[in-house]
Amino acid sequence: MPSAEHHIGAPRSRIDGPAKVTGAARYAAEHTAPDLAYGIVVSGAIARGRIRSVYAAAALAVPGVIQVFTHENRRRTAWLDYSYKDDVAPPGAPFRPLYDAEIHYSGQPVALVVAEDYETAAYAASLLAIDYEVAEHETDLEAQRAYAYVPSKKRSGIPPPPSPRGDAEKAFGEAPLHVEGDYSHAIEHHNPMEPHASTVIWEGDGKLTVHDKIQGSQNSQRYITSVFGLKADDVRVMNAYVGGAFGSGLRPHYQLFLAVMAALELERSIKVVLTRDQMFTFSYRPHTLQTVRLAADRSGALRSIRHDAVAGTSRYEDYQENVVNWSGMMYHCDNVALTYTLAQIDTATPADMRAPGATTGVFALEIAMDELAERAAMDPIALRLRNYSDEDENQGKAYTSKELRECYRVGAERIGWSRRSSVPRSTREGRELVGFGMATGCWEAYLQKTAARATLTPDGKLEVATASSDIGTGTYTILAQIGADGFGLDLADVSVRIADSTLPTAPVQGGSWTAASSGSAVQAACQAVRETLLGHARGLHRSPLANAGIEQVEFRDGRITFASDPARFVTFADAMRAGGVDKVEAEATAAPSVVTALRYVSYTHAAVFAEVRVDEELGIVRAVRIVSAVAAGRILNPKTARSQILGGGVMGLGMALHEETMMDHNLGRFMNHNLGEYHVPANADVHDIDVVFVEEHDDKVSPIGVKGLGEIGIVGTAAAIANAVYNATGKRIRDLPITLDKLL
Ligand code: MOS
Repeated sequence: MPSAEHHIGAPRSRIDGPAKVTGAARYAAEHTAPDLAYGIVVSGAIARGRIRSVYAAAALAVPGVIQVFTHENRRRTAWLDYSYKDDVAPPGAPFRPLYDAEIHYSGQPVALVVAEDYETAAYAASLLAIDYEVAEHETDLEAQRAYAYVPSKKRSGIPPPPSPRGDAEKAFGEAPLHVEGDYSHAIEHHNPMEPHASTVIWEGDGKLTVHDKIQGSQNSQRYITSVFGLKADDVRVMNAYVGGAFGSGLRPHYQLFLAVMAALELERSIKVVLTRDQMFTFSYRPHTLQTVRLAADRSGALRSIRHDAVAGTSRYEDYQENVVNWSGMMYHCDNVALTYTLAQIDTATPADMRAPGATTGVFALEIAMDELAERAAMDPIALRLRNYSDEDENQGKAYTSKELRECYRVGAERIGWSRRSSVPRSTREGRELVGFGMATGCWEAYLQKTAARATLTPDGKLEVATASSDIGTGTYTILAQIGADGFGLDLADVSVRIADSTLPTAPVQGGSWTAASSGSAVQAACQAVRETLLGHARGLHRSPLANAGIEQVEFRDGRITFASDPARFVTFADAMRAGGVDKVEAEATAAPSVVTALRYVSYTHAAVFAEVRVDEELGIVRAVRIVSAVAAGRILNPKTARSQILGGGVMGLGMALHEETMMDHNLGRFMNHNLGEYHVPANADVHDIDVVFVEEHDDKVSPIGVKGLGEIGIVGTAAAIANAVYNATGKRIRDLPITLDKLL
């Protein structure tokens, strides 16, 4: 049913919601095929060394076992490192599963056992005996920091620290107020509900259809064709539904390689699903050791900022993040010195995890700012306003928009900031100490080159298509909203085709760029369809719209109507008939504006506030209230947008209080590789989270005025909670998570 309703900006429920709650939505591991075989990955037991021999006879003797793949009998794959680099690979030599006898990290896949059913494969895998030659390993970043280095090759999209400005050391010495501290956070794993999985369907003739758990189907598709030397047309990758990823699915992982290899070798469909503990063998937020030194004059004006970070990476890739640049950008200061170095440890390469780098660097800066506020006897918000900057201080460029002041104001009001005592450890309720804290959050607003197609049929149905993913963010829904408003349709009249490598080119879903990028592309494709359709309508014999310009007409109720005279209209169907077509289709590409980039930078901002209660005797912290006030440009759908910030808030809460992947440095292995011992916030840990979007008009950031959301919800949250814990207890914890042992 056509309608004039406007969907953009309205709180719409997810159009994929019913499929998800009824189980109709199929995730990568839920697809099947006739004659499907099952592969179980065998994980290596040592952190570094070589495989001396694999004893597979017992496994192969189990009835139902089809094959045991190891480095000794693997299929030939590409030779050059380059061929293994996926779209978002950092500099280095990507890990090659089953390539040779070399062991690079604990849990590295050393074999794939394939059987007729899952249970047989799992049992046979347990019979595999592997003899190793053990080498020395080092998994402790503290021990390796002495060998830290500036990466020689920069990771694409990650700006290195800016050159120093002024003289930070001298200014530090001269200023009357100082703070200086070491900050660190634990290694964290993404822990999406859906484990990594690949179902590879053998279509015959060397053709594959792959259902992969990935944040970009085309990334997996290109990886497979390049590694296995296959033709693009022979490999189709789909990721219709993704059960969370948070960055863990940006790069293809070893289960994809192994499943494809086995399918090609056996000429048979195969499924490989990782276990929860195997999810801890790759992709994590790297351990980062930071030092922040701030100095200010007596009015609180920053005189010196120094921020140094050493981050862990693997031995084979220089994984990089933007950790310290935020400290030179967010506040006005004339004397700034920032450094970022890497140190290698014997683990798999770290990976982007929700707001990579910002989450890490801003948490340290924003705790330091809280310390400085106390030193200056200023309210923490007042200190930030004192140093507020309307330009990116690193580049001297203006923001396309920055409504952060309003975030501070609204956030403070919502949390009841006036109830905060500036004296730590001075507020009690029952047996609990009460504290309030706040922090600033910041994340880049990206527009990435993305193509989309729109197809309108005479019955007033629209299809929009792009290879973009929906990793749980609401992409299906916002693209339907944009398409529907383009033609005055109901959401139900729009079908959204995404998550398929055969669709118009789109990057991985990451960096919170999808809404701005694929949204702008869909809107541009719809605009092209409108123009073509109007052309057909004008060509109608004695057309009521003969001289109408595109800005003079409206598309709704299945008609193109002259806006100032509704009696003059042509129906979509008549227009197509006049044009002799049975549909109108157009493809368009959205891309960043070079002209805008010369003068402006674009960021989302947030002010995060937290109220905590701390049980002094037990050391238990409850974050009873979190307020996240966000400025992110135009909000396409307040319901899915809020959901993104809630998720980010929960993840920030996890970083502040719970999440910690612990390493046994003797074994070089993550110890708590399960959801029982790696604590992701549960319902009982999550209390009231209040999300508010402040008005922010931005006509430069993207064609649709959208900045993007998801990552901004985590940046700032951990610092706000840590600052609240200080306000409650008088204990300054600079090492996350704030577990009870640190408070007692
Ligand atoms: Mo995000 S860490 O770019 O999925």
